[in-house]
Amino acid sequence: MRLEVGGISMNAQSLLHELRDTEYLDGIDVGAYLDLTREQHPQLYAELDFGRDGAREALKSLAQVFNEFETDDRENGRGDSYRRAQKHIAVRMTGIRRLFELAGGVKDVRDLSPTWRTLDLLAGDGLLTRALRVLAPQVRDGVISSDIARTMVTAALSAGLPAIRQDARFLFMRDAAMDAVILAYGSHHVPSDDRTTVFLEAARVLRPGGRFVVHDFEEGSPSARWFSEAVHRHSAAGHPYRHFTAEELREGFGAAGLRDIRVHRVYDPFIMGAATREDAVGELADYLHDMYGLCGLDHGDATRESVRARVWQLCEECFRFGPDDGGADRTDAWLRTPAVHRVGGQWVAEIPRIALVGVGEK
Ligand SMILES: C[S@@+](CC[C@H](N)C(=O)[O-])C[C@H]1O[C@@H](n2cnc3c(N)ncnc32)[C@H](O)[C@@H]1O
Repeated sequence: MRLEVGGISMNAQSLLHELRDTEYLDGIDVGAYLDLTREQHPQLYAELDFGRDGAREALKSLAQVFNEFETDDRENGRGDSYRRAQKHIAVRMTGIRRLFELAGGVKDVRDLSPTWRTLDLLAGDGLLTRALRVLAPQVRDGVISSDIARTMVTAALSAGLPAIRQDARFLFMRDAAMDAVILAYGSHHVPSDDRTTVFLEAARVLRPGGRFVVHDFEEGSPSARWFSEAVHRHSAAGHPYRHFTAEELREGFGAAGLRDIRVHRVYDPFIMGAATREDAVGELADYLHDMYGLCGLDHGDATRESVRARVWQLCEECFRFGPDDGGADRTDAWLRTPAVHRVGGQWVAEIPRIALVGVGEK
């Protein structure tokens, strides 16, 4: 017989009780995290499930994880500089807007319902949550920031965002709780053998009719070239990850039992505005240097200007698209090479990227 109290089985309750003292974030155990969430983010609290089968093992392996996104101090780390870059929330807004539209099944992000709830599986310190507040203020706190790195989640919680530390491969969340799940800006970090597990977990937490959106820079494309030619060579951690292919996306959605599977090409540029041409290019170069931890360019007699120039040169070498790249989704607005143009009263530096984005429905 399965005994239930308040919708939670007795087994889950006793596991939850046992896990309350487990270290979760720096100086915060599971119990303290649950208390904080209940107080500050009651809706997220209602969606949590730390009493799931396997939660004990998942917390144990979470305790061992320290990836490159924690801090700059750790060997190969780029967490602090990554978060510094993300203070410029407008730089990747074009692509992010489109991801929300695909996840919500709407033509315009402003049409999303105020009660729409989505889980951002590789959230970092909550860029997508902050972006949606600007793009669609009616859906305040519609995005839950989820990440494996403790400093990322701590930063999001400190900023008052609903956030949870969990591995995309095992979610401490209830079945059918979300309208959408997004795996973006780092999907290639999920090891090939674990990708199906992530698709299955995403499908589990989606409500019927909900959408799973997976974004990456297609293996072998000019957008992925940036990672192999610039990031892998010039960052401390390197970038030895295999990017998704369109076929792999279709197979992943299929294996997770999702339907109405579509694969899109989405224009996802870096855009930085400034008062002068030099500042627009220089600030965008600084952003990329910070975000990707390109410390290998800082050697010897390099100056700030020479590093900025080298970053821009790498962008010009990597981000070169043909007239057919992007296929049927391509529009005239998509640049083919990095450029600086004048828009209204300011200078805008723009680096084109084309993302591969798959959508599957439960
Ligand atoms: C490139 S960052 C993207 C952050 C944010 N979405 C953005 O666009 O700025 C990738 C993030 O994925 C997280 N990550 C990597 N593997 C993960 C996993 N298995 N589960 C959850 N998060 C993971 C990292 O800790 C990192 O914060």
